[in-house]
Amino acid sequence: MLKGLFSLIFSAGVSFAMAALPACAADDIEAKVQLCAACHGQDGVPTDPKTIPIIWGQQQSYLVKQLHDFRSGDRDQAIMSPIAKGLAQDELRKIAAYFAAKGWPAQSAAAASAPPNGLAQCQPCHQPNFEGGPPAPRLAGLSYEYLAAAMRSFAAGERTNNGDMPKFMQALTDSERDAMARYLSAL
Ligand code: HEC
Ligand code: HEC
Repeated sequence: MLKGLFSLIFSAGVSFAMAALPACAADDIEAKVQLCAACHGQDGVPTDPKTIPIIWGQQQSYLVKQLHDFRSGDRDQAIMSPIAKGLAQDELRKIAAYFAAKGWPAQSAAAASAPPNGLAQCQPCHQPNFEGGPPAPRLAGLSYEYLAAAMRSFAAGERTNNGDMPKFMQALTDSERDAMARYLSAL
């Protein structure tokens, strides 16, 4: 499904870019971020939050690093790597700044639950409120499915673009990671 969407967006993106010619640098960034909205959402809510993370209001340094890593192959991912390879190195920072400056999308409050054991060890990096701080990303309010998948891929050694996270995730059981993902998604 995503592959179809992907080609759709790219054909739409090409005609959009052609229509916008000649464009100055600022317009270029505006056109590029329109492509992102097709999946990451016009209003910051992803079209499929289970597989697509929120990037509005995410930590800027984290966004720059992920775009860099998708582009270099350090975080190799079927959808984002080709997209990031289509961006110029000097655009990554501007695009990251654009999304970091947006507000994290408001979501309907989920039922509060008690924090599961072990979450305190995440807070020095992800911050006490889990809203992140350089270089760690915001976790609060990402979807349960995305968080669980990200944690599992670090644990499985599939996502290797950070030295610490795989070790932390391997030290937890599946059910501990699951409980953390559930709790963080409801923040
Ligand atoms: C066709 C859909 C699609 C489009 C278009 C798209 N993305 Fe993504 N993006 C995804 C998916 C899916 C993921 C999750 C990748 C994973 O599971 O590792 C993602 C992940 C990301 C991440 C990592 C966020 C995190 O929390 O780790 C960033 C940053 C990102 N995208 C930025 C962008 C930018 C900037 C654009 C536009 C230039 C864009 N994306 C366009 C689907 C898309
Ligand atoms: C030593 C600091 C540190 C600690 C402790 C830590 N993290 Fe992380 N975490 C990071 C950094 C840095 C990243 C970004 C890695 C990268 O560049 O992709 C990250 C990324 C993540 C991501 C991916 C988010 C996304 O949008 O894809 C998740 C999920 C996560 N951490 C969960 C946790 C949990 C849960 C704990 C506690 C059990 C934890 N982390 C402990 C530093 C830390």
